[in-house]
Amino acid sequence: MGDKRKKVSILDLQAMKDRGEKITWLTAYDYPTAQFAEAAGLEMLLVGDSLGMCVYGYEGTVPVTMDQCIVHAEAVRRGAPSAFVLGDMPFLSYQTSDVDAVRNAGRFLKEAGVDAVKLEGGVRVVPRIRAILDAGIVVCGHIGLTPQSSGQLGGHKAQGRTVDSARLVIEDALAIQDAGAQLLLLEAVPPEVSGFIARRLSIPVLSIGAGPFCDGQLLIVSDLIGQFQAFTPKFVKKYANVAEVITEAMRAYAKDVKAGTFPDDEHCYHMLKGETDGFAELVKRYEKGGA
Ligand code: KIV
Repeated sequence: MGDKRKKVSILDLQAMKDRGEKITWLTAYDYPTAQFAEAAGLEMLLVGDSLGMCVYGYEGTVPVTMDQCIVHAEAVRRGAPSAFVLGDMPFLSYQTSDVDAVRNAGRFLKEAGVDAVKLEGGVRVVPRIRAILDAGIVVCGHIGLTPQSSGQLGGHKAQGRTVDSARLVIEDALAIQDAGAQLLLLEAVPPEVSGFIARRLSIPVLSIGAGPFCDGQLLIVSDLIGQFQAFTPKFVKKYANVAEVITEAMRAYAKDVKAGTFPDDEHCYHMLKGETDGFAELVKRYEKGGA
């Protein structure tokens, strides 16, 4: 699919921020989607724990396991060899201890070949960020609306909309950069706040629902292509409606099968030349009760 491009590295992403070029980022959970993203030239892919909702039909991200993330990350890596692929640390893969954080972040690299890991939380996860960095792994922080701890936030609510809340988001952002993380994702934060953070931090600051002033944008692929049906967050722009296209194709297939118009001759493997007379004789023998 298209020309081979050079592998995107963390240095390339930093250089894009430094020269003011926007970074493009999407989630992906499977091989074909990763291939499409690679062909479309996206720089970054996230194997997000949103796969819990988008692929497995869970109500949230909390039930997602490391083993599930690894399987999907392997497939994405195979489909997008040159994109910068991040594995999303699922709930309880890092909250429990530094040792668990390093072991699970390391699994993403060893078993799936990702380039970096992302974990939710600010000041309170700084020790985990440091531990993973000490293992030589690139880390992306994720603050603002953090779905794994949305219970504590009172639901999936935008953060930083008051001065007090904005200060907390800014303190988290500064702590993550100070800890040594090389990327930061802001989710559902006002553009006034995210713009300030993007200017203030030297590392690339990416947005999902955090407005246009960040160094790049992330969307969930299932939202972008119109596949995820349960709900659509305010920040999503749908670029296609594959749910309609796929359902319509399935409906047409079912109609053809019922009507006997599929398969037709062009979809059949006929017997090889010179075999049909012998086969007619075989059929006759069966019909006479023999073989
Ligand atoms: O899992 C995911 O896709 C995410 C995004 C919501 C940022 O973490």
